[in-house]
Amino acid sequence: MAYSIRDDDGTSNASGNPHLTQLVDAAIARNPSRRAFLKTGLGAAVLPFLGGVAACGGSGGDDIEKILGFIGVATSSGDAMVVPAGYRAETLTRWGDALLAGAPDFRGDASETSAEAELQVGDNHDALHFFGFRNADGTEKSDSGLLVINHEYINPEYYYAPGTDPANWLLPFTAEKARKGLAGHGISVIEVRRKADGGWEVVRPSTYNRRITGYTPMEITGPARGHEMLRTAADPGGTSVLGTLNNCAAGWTPWGTYITCEENFNGYFGWNGTRTPSAAENRYGIAKDGFGYLWHTVDPRFDVNANPNEPNRFGWVVEIDPFTPGSTPKKRTALGRFKHENAEVVVAPGGKIVVYMGDDERNDYIYKFVTTGTYSPGAAGNANLLDSGTLYVGKFEAGAATGDRMGTGTWVPLVFGQGGLDEANGFTSQADVLIRARQAADRVGATMMDRPEWIAANPKKRGEVYIALTNNNRRGTTPASSNRTDGTSTAGSARPAVDDANPRADNQWGHVLRWNETGGDPTATSFSWDIFLVAGNPKAVTDRANLRSGTSNITVDNMFNSPDGLQFDASGRLWIQTDGSFTNTGNFDGQGNNQMLAADVVTGEVRRFLVGPSGCEITGVTWTPDRKTMFVNVQHPGELGSHPNRPRKADGTAYGDNDIARDAARFSTFPNAGDATVKGTSPRPRSATIVVRKADGGVVGA
Ligand code: FEO
Ligand code: CA
Ligand code: CA
Repeated sequence: MAYSIRDDDGTSNASGNPHLTQLVDAAIARNPSRRAFLKTGLGAAVLPFLGGVAACGGSGGDDIEKILGFIGVATSSGDAMVVPAGYRAETLTRWGDALLAGAPDFRGDASETSAEAELQVGDNHDALHFFGFRNADGTEKSDSGLLVINHEYINPEYYYAPGTDPANWLLPFTAEKARKGLAGHGISVIEVRRKADGGWEVVRPSTYNRRITGYTPMEITGPARGHEMLRTAADPGGTSVLGTLNNCAAGWTPWGTYITCEENFNGYFGWNGTRTPSAAENRYGIAKDGFGYLWHTVDPRFDVNANPNEPNRFGWVVEIDPFTPGSTPKKRTALGRFKHENAEVVVAPGGKIVVYMGDDERNDYIYKFVTTGTYSPGAAGNANLLDSGTLYVGKFEAGAATGDRMGTGTWVPLVFGQGGLDEANGFTSQADVLIRARQAADRVGATMMDRPEWIAANPKKRGEVYIALTNNNRRGTTPASSNRTDGTSTAGSARPAVDDANPRADNQWGHVLRWNETGGDPTATSFSWDIFLVAGNPKAVTDRANLRSGTSNITVDNMFNSPDGLQFDASGRLWIQTDGSFTNTGNFDGQGNNQMLAADVVTGEVRRFLVGPSGCEITGVTWTPDRKTMFVNVQHPGELGSHPNRPRKADGTAYGDNDIARDAARFSTFPNAGDATVKGTSPRPRSATIVVRKADGGVVGA
């Protein structure tokens, strides 16, 4: 390895630090393209950044870590994971792997019962986090710990063995099938350890291994606990709920808990018979048939006519203590109810906790929460810090000039009695404001964004925060319309005009926006913002003055669409994961399968790090503290979409879900093909956690 790494994760030797100017000169020598930035941009952005590389040990002064030290990979439409030269990708844990005592090995024909599925790893891996065990001195280990994994949803075409209806493999649908679906959702807590060869394995049995599902009891906490809108016949007190659903992205706290976020919860609900949905139900996208899961047809809990308040008990962030296996997960209502993407946690100077959150719907909003209390390492009070604080929603304004893709903004508090959140406008309490956070945000005039996905705070520049705005095909059409201030819009129905922060009509490729909190203070109520990149297709749109080709840091070699996962590693490398079109034609010509890239946020350079297999999205990434192991999730390989390689029937028409359900290995077999360790009888595709590491044992990405 040309440049070894020593930075802020415990391997530094402060006494050996060279002077700042030596570091600047050394950095320029290693990477001349950074000269302008390093020599002229030495402001607040630079000093903390160099702090990340300044902690060199005594190894000859050649210890400047490369932010983008790997050779970028080419796009691919194949059914394999592609990683850079010198890297390895190894399967760690897949949907259906036996996890708990008594679990059967994955059978491969989807014949597991609900009781068996709840003992296996769940489906559709999304966000994940590695919590290292602690050394005697309190530092975190890099060779053993707990991997906590979200299971966002299920792919029914692979998850259920075909029934007796030739036209629809799901039928007849039964209560047992609904329960099995619930068992595939939720969280896995998995003990893992590094092997002598540098690869990783699951520890079984382990007292830590745990499944949390769509029916695990959890507690409702915070201001909305007990509110009448959260009460049901099964829970007349409105204080406890069964399960967490659609656990998309996540967060983690400095006190060692995992925060899992409920996103498209509306899709599981529907109604039998007739119903006129309320304004709140429309605003949250509750609809007669949901997303087609059919649970409401067999389980009254998901029938809104039978249980109208049950949907109000989802759409929250949920805090889980993975180190206490019997602990009850807590739904933290103070952070508001919407389609949560992730929860990016920052400790502000003085100790307040700031949580950044996106609401992933076309033309919905960006939020932040600031705790009332303060964090103190080891304090018992940390456990319930997330129950009290102020929820804000973002307004992004054009600033001094229009059309320059930068501006200013404010965080508007969603507090009962302020800003029109009062009885005159139908709000009755803070609990009501939180349960109907979308409608409260409508009232205060929050800025409609192009589908807010993950948010990532720059560890090298306090107060700088990035968000992936994945795409929006409903912006810039005429006539324009906005989410109505009285909260009566149906989810995703508005057609806003382009604005500085969302600068492109029919945004097919998405963009990454960043803001800087005033004074670098995460608790500030104002900020400035600009756009880090606009994704596009310079192959399909060769006029680089046309924003559909992307900003100048997008090239035919690194282009992608639909940024979704977004996370910094401890060195300040920004990792971008995609969940977009893999058609590889038209607007997406040359972009191949979903992928992961890394960006240097100082120079703006973006480089493709890996490409996923057929039909997948890449989502969720975490590292061991030494960053020599990256864990990354491959979600829903084999999802047909309009993939160029999706199978076709004898008459030439493309396979649909009813076809692939009966021929499950026909499209993708990831991650099983060629893997001699795979057990089970079928190579049907399976969501999986993949270990990515350097063959030489170095830091991933450097
Ligand atoms: Fe589940 Fe918005 O991604
Ligand atoms: Ca502007
Ligand atoms: Ca996502």
